[in-house]
Amino acid sequence: MFVDNKDRSRCMALVEEDRQITSPAAKIPYFPLAVKRGRGAMVEDLDGNSYIDFLASAGAINAGHCHPKVVDAIKKQTEELILYTPVYMYHEPLIKLTKELISITPGSFRKRAYFGLAGSDANDGVIKLARIATGRPKIMAYLRAYHGSTYGALSLSAVSLPMHRGLGPTLPDIHHVPFPDTYRPPFPGMTENQVTDFALEQIKIAFSTNVPPEELAAIVIEPIQGDGGLVVPPVRYMQELRKLCDEYGILLVSEEVQQGFGRTGKWFGIENFGVVPDAIVMGKAIASGLPLGACVARADLIEKWEAPAHLFTAAGNPVCCAASLATIEVIREENLLENALRMGERIKNKFLQMQQKYEIIGDVRGIGLSIGVDLVTDRETRERNRAAAAKICYRAWQRGLLLSFFSGCVLRIQPPLVISEEQADEAMEIIDQSFRDYLDGDIPDSVFETVKGW
Ligand SMILES: Cc1ncc(COP(=O)(O)O)c(C=O)c1O
Repeated sequence: MFVDNKDRSRCMALVEEDRQITSPAAKIPYFPLAVKRGRGAMVEDLDGNSYIDFLASAGAINAGHCHPKVVDAIKKQTEELILYTPVYMYHEPLIKLTKELISITPGSFRKRAYFGLAGSDANDGVIKLARIATGRPKIMAYLRAYHGSTYGALSLSAVSLPMHRGLGPTLPDIHHVPFPDTYRPPFPGMTENQVTDFALEQIKIAFSTNVPPEELAAIVIEPIQGDGGLVVPPVRYMQELRKLCDEYGILLVSEEVQQGFGRTGKWFGIENFGVVPDAIVMGKAIASGLPLGACVARADLIEKWEAPAHLFTAAGNPVCCAASLATIEVIREENLLENALRMGERIKNKFLQMQQKYEIIGDVRGIGLSIGVDLVTDRETRERNRAAAAKICYRAWQRGLLLSFFSGCVLRIQPPLVISEEQADEAMEIIDQSFRDYLDGDIPDSVFETVKGW
């Protein structure tokens, strides 16, 4: 029987204070962890306990926590200039960063960028941009997608009832279609090709009923549906989607807030599908944790909107731009794209081995270091096993690993891309042991009082 003998008194006291005075709408905790410091792929709590990080602050820390180069760039820029709003003036870090973003995004056409403070407002921007650039009102997005918390991004999202309940009306004319999910297909036993055809057909049905394609400005899709449970679409689906967009003059937007900046072993997730989008939305890991969002799109589109259609006082401020430039440098210099692939393979293979032992592992999927492990109560029905996901994540934390789940039952494996073989192997040992604890009935139901999860 597992005995948790770590001192967690300071963490517990802070969590209790938080519970009394902050907004509950911003909290979906997995365990009571108060983070004090982070280095690379490790995190330390207020009581001095350390953990391997398989969450990377929700995929926002790809270059590792507090990478010395990023910290140095932030310090230097902070001493020079923190903000003079780029709305009225100009500054070098923003121009340098724009050039870098243009160079690392796919597409040989002329590009431009706009900046924001988060993934959410970058998505609001892309709705505005698509409407202005095409003169069309409608936007298409996907069921089970999460795009953020501002009203525009919320309107694109369709992942959680409490996120929508009582908040309407959201933006009009955003239409959701099913994401091509090959593990939980629309009808049991469908092949990948059938799922692809079915999902494309749903768009065509919309085109012939309530969404005239000549009124559709853009389709916004994640290259891997993140919070929907790390669902990887078939390559053919993405390629056919591009063709469909071309046929009707619809913009294809790759929403890379979670999958971008090397997470899938490429700079951007969409590159895994041989598809070039018209716009790429970025956030999270772009500035190693400082608030920055961006979108790089075809220049001819961005040249169509005029000020003040989309601007923010502190968007693209020099400190966040400096952090982003350093992040890009670290990803390049430390070959983090390659490490994401290597570590991703290693971790995925271990999960595939575990799948042979543990019936509750229904599916293991993902690209690079964006891996989902889908827990089920029954491999036939594929019913989501929330209890297992919640208990295993809680026990992993007690044993020294930050592990989370979303979509009710999908373990989310997204460590910083700097993770080493030793750290990955140790983390997998903890996960294996936590599965055994769960199956032995050694994790009490009381953990459900703490684990809220996604
Ligand atoms: C795919 C995706 N888009 C957008 C967002 C929102 O980003 P932010 O929280 O920075 O506004 C998230 C955050 O989880 C996300 O995963």
